[in-house]
Amino acid sequence: MSAGAGAPAGLRDLARARGLDLGAAVAPAPLREEPEYAACLAREFSLATTENALKMEPLRPEPGRWSFAGADTIVDFAAAHDMKVRGHTLVWHQQVPEWVSKAPASELEPILSAHIETVAGRYRGRIAIWDVVNEAVTDDGSPRDTLWLRGLGPDYLATAFRRAHQADAGARLFYNDYGAEGLNPKSEAVYHLLRDLLDAAVPVHGVGLQMHVPVQGHPRPDDVAANMARLAGLGLEIHITEMDVRLPLPVTEEALAAQARVYGDLLQVCLDCPACTALIQWGVSDRHSWVPHFFEGTGAALILDEAYRPKPAYRALVRILGKATR
Ligand code: G3I
Repeated sequence: MSAGAGAPAGLRDLARARGLDLGAAVAPAPLREEPEYAACLAREFSLATTENALKMEPLRPEPGRWSFAGADTIVDFAAAHDMKVRGHTLVWHQQVPEWVSKAPASELEPILSAHIETVAGRYRGRIAIWDVVNEAVTDDGSPRDTLWLRGLGPDYLATAFRRAHQADAGARLFYNDYGAEGLNPKSEAVYHLLRDLLDAAVPVHGVGLQMHVPVQGHPRPDDVAANMARLAGLGLEIHITEMDVRLPLPVTEEALAAQARVYGDLLQVCLDCPACTALIQWGVSDRHSWVPHFFEGTGAALILDEAYRPKPAYRALVRILGKATR
């Protein structure tokens, strides 16, 4: 649902006119319980990422028990409002249920394959994009030492992408990570990881650059542009998947203006790279952001405030989208 006739156009309409999806990470509870959350989501965004609902632990806390209700709420809402869904995430080292983390290594491959086949199969044709593997590389560029690496060896990534492709051949399959947005040892390692997977004919279609950044010390736009260019050179689609630009609290006008520049600069980098097709913020508004809970003393990281009102960052996106030529 884009803005109906006469209704104020939301960001999604401006962005879609530039071939870009603007998205938000979504939680089922506020979507069910807060009309303003739902209205804002439908008005401003054309893509929803399942924030936690499709992680392994919330989805299957015990063997054989699946809790799809949360994800179904998000997927149903998206279908009713002409929105794409990004399924987050099939393979991650966090939020792994105890019955999996305690399973013998010999059982991990069948557990993981069955998980992927069941989840991606259930949403075949309804979840267009998957974060198949999340955060498999450490900050120094080495493979992250996870139960998946220990149990299945380095081929677990290829196995995961192949199972996801078997479950839904129409889905776009992404690798997703943080701290690999600019030019650094981690982004170098992610580039080579993806190149090697593609060289092995593994069905990887895109890469997610999470973009969880502080307002001071964010990746340089030129570095992000160079990183995107080399990833695009592999034939990959690129999404900015989890953007938030955290501010020291209490918030000042200067900090909000600086935040607007960061959002605007990185949107421009995405618009300048044809392979970059989505910019997604990690939450619908500041009221439901993970940032204050994880980075004490910071917050106000998104483009809409606690009352879903546009902030200077929102207006920066409107301005840039309005003059974009793509
Ligand atoms: O749902 C339970 C609730 O029943 C329980 O009472 C409560 C207290 O323990 O916990 C609730 O679960 C929490 C969940 O968020 C839902 O609110 C988990 O403890 C908490 O760990 C979880 O945090 C999420 C975190 O990933 C870990 O999964 C954040 O909301 C989520 O924003 C964050 O998102 C990650 C991406 O998936 C990957 N990239 C980094 C990003 C930020 O860490």
